[in-house]
Formats: sequence, structure tokens, C-alpha cells
Amino acid sequence: MAIKENVQTVLVTGASSGIGQGIAIAFGMRGANVVINYYSDEKGAADTLKKVEAGGGKGLILKADVGEEDEVLRMFKEVTEEFDGLDVLINNAGIQDDSAFADMSLEQWENVMSTNLTGQFLCAREAIRAFGKQKGRGAKGKAIGNIVFISSVHDIIPWAGHVNYASSKGGILMLMKSLALEVAPQKIRVNAISPGAIATDINDEVWKDKKKKKDLLELIPYKRIGLPEDIANVAVFLASPDSDYITGTTIYVDGGMTLYPGFVENG
Ligand code: BGC
Repeated sequence: MAIKENVQTVLVTGASSGIGQGIAIAFGMRGANVVINYYSDEKGAADTLKKVEAGGGKGLILKADVGEEDEVLRMFKEVTEEFDGLDVLINNAGIQDDSAFADMSLEQWENVMSTNLTGQFLCAREAIRAFGKQKGRGAKGKAIGNIVFISSVHDIIPWAGHVNYASSKGGILMLMKSLALEVAPQKIRVNAISPGAIATDINDEVWKDKKKKKDLLELIPYKRIGLPEDIANVAVFLASPDSDYITGTTIYVDGGMTLYPGFVENG
């Protein structure tokens, strides 16, 4: 299928809920072709598709475990066949599996690493391979492809009880920067967004509880919990020619969480 001029084809991993769903919808509202990847939440993916289409985009749902190489290869093959190429990868799929360190099983460690870090590696690699085959694509004189890693403030804020998660996010930081350096001469841009506390299923046991929510707000100088749209708006910007000179950068979208909030009155 030939793509329409200026219509971006965007693959969003983990797009069946939360931040990924918000990003998919935002691209849909801009008329993009949006590939909605999910792993287990089929209903959520269908909901995302409905919203992408309601916004004017074209959607395609693809199930794949991003930590499994053969599934990722199959997914990229289907994307590039259906849409004749790829412009943007939003490397979003991520999980938490929390535990005190002494009790953390190898399985808990490996599951989180597999989705959050290996998954981002595999999808990024396939995106780079796809971009390499489509030179001349993209706005004139601008990047031929774009990758946005969705990381976390925990790529720089240590997190007790979540060592597997924070380690995976710390890994994304160097994966993103090293890759950005390597592919910049090919006119491929690679950036990251590090969200703070965004109200999604991943942390609903915190923001739905009055006391825990109050404690969480102590960590957010801007005094509100974020929404998926807060991240989606920045993802759209990072994937657009408006940000063409930005590569290898992390944008913290966190209401000031990385500003050492304890220092607002102390120190
Ligand atoms: C985590 C959330 C947490 C937030 C701030 C995110 O990366 O997934 O559970 O609320 O960081 O700590």
C-alpha cells in the first residue's frame, strides 16, 4: 500500500493501556498510521484502535512480546508490508515487578529486563534496519527515521524495592545515547522521554489510595500527577521535524520530580 505524503507511520509498543495508549491516540489525532502493539490486553488494544480511528488515524493491531526476537521480527515485517515503511518507533512497552532486593527472584529480574531493556533493544534494532532500507523518506533535509524511548525518572532516581525496574531504565539511558551517536550520520534521530508519576495502571495502587497519593505528591513540586497526554504531546514533538536538531536527549516530563523535591524547604 502506498503511503500518503506527510502521513507518518508510527509503531507504538505497549499501546493497549496507559502512556502507550495515550501516545497512539495523539498520533491518531494527527492522521498517522498507528501500529498498536500489545502483549496480553487484547481488549485494551481494541479500545486504542477505536480511539485512533475516531481521531482520524489508521490503526493496525499487532500482538507481540517485545522481549522475544522472533515475535519482534514478525511484527516489523508486518508493519513494513502493510504501510510500506516506518517513520517512528515509540519504544514504550514496560513493566514493573516489584520486590525487596533480598527476595527478588531471578525470574522477576529477567522478566523486567526482557520487556524493558531487551525489548527496547530488539525493537530499536529492527527500526534502524527498516529506516536503512528507506533512504529519501521523511521531510526534505530532515531525519529519515525517529526513535523515542519511553524510559522513566528512575533512569536517574534510584528506587528502593524496584531495583530491577530502575536498572532497566538506567540501561535505556545508555542504550538511547550510544545508539543516537551511532546512527546520527545516517540521519536517524534517537531520543527518550522520562516520565515521572503518570496516572496509569502501573501505579494505580498508589494514586488511587488517598494517603499514598498525598505522599506521592510530596515528590512532585508541580503538585499534580501526570496524565498520558503530558507524555504524548512530547512524543509527537520528538517525532516531528520541529525537533529535527534534537538527538541523544532525554526530556524529563515529571512535574519537577527530578529536582530533588526534599530541598524545597530543607538543606
Ligand atoms: C513508575 C511509576 C512511578 C513513577 C514515579 C514510573 O517509572 O512506573 O510506578 O509512580 O515512575 O516514581
